[in-house]
Amino acid sequence: MKKYLSPSILSADFTHLGEDIRLAEEAGAQYLHYDVMDGLFVPSISFGMPVLRSVRRITDLVLDVHLMIEKPERYIDEFADCGADIITIHYEACEDLPGTLQKIRAKGLKAGVVIKPNTPNGVLEGVLDQVDMVLLMTVEPGFGGQAYIPSSTEKIKELRRMLDARGLQTDIEVDGGIKKENLQTVLDAGANVIVAGSAIFAGDIRQNVQDFLKMM
Ligand code: DX5
Ligand code: ZN
Repeated sequence: MKKYLSPSILSADFTHLGEDIRLAEEAGAQYLHYDVMDGLFVPSISFGMPVLRSVRRITDLVLDVHLMIEKPERYIDEFADCGADIITIHYEACEDLPGTLQKIRAKGLKAGVVIKPNTPNGVLEGVLDQVDMVLLMTVEPGFGGQAYIPSSTEKIKELRRMLDARGLQTDIEVDGGIKKENLQTVLDAGANVIVAGSAIFAGDIRQNVQDFLKMM
């Protein structure tokens, strides 16, 4: 399967966000991960529509929008109109999961579903054929810079087996605590879309992206 690197701008320096994004793009990243937090579904608050609109204007990267918000169905139109390419919604936060996934696809975007570390893969059985991507959180959502939860590896493997058994080539994205040190582990387990925040935006962005891509 094709592999993609999705640097998470949550760890970027917002005083020069455009420059940080340009460095990641020039170094070869394909996606840009955009973490929206509402202070309810997760404790923290990050950024929303206006910042996405600005980001859209300065990059051609695939904008991979991860909505950590309650009732994401309220905001699909807005994030689509601001330039999202992929919108991923939490199973735990959504009252009408199939309907909301359908709404995302009806806007012409790719639809993703995401589960927290303690939510089992099994809850996704009914929607696996309705998503372009499954995102497995490999930390508790809410903050960058946390450590990868080791039991995630088995969860990635199990999800890849579930997809294979259905003949689905669905992307598996992993998010949280991914570093050069555990990148190979998650790739071997079956993930093919890699989110990395602090491992990309702390230090030399260009070098970090190149180091990741070399291993992928
Ligand atoms: C956490 C966010 C992540 C975060 C990952 O809730 O969903 O996308 O930016 O950051 P790192 O890679 O530093 O764990
Ligand atoms: Zn994220």
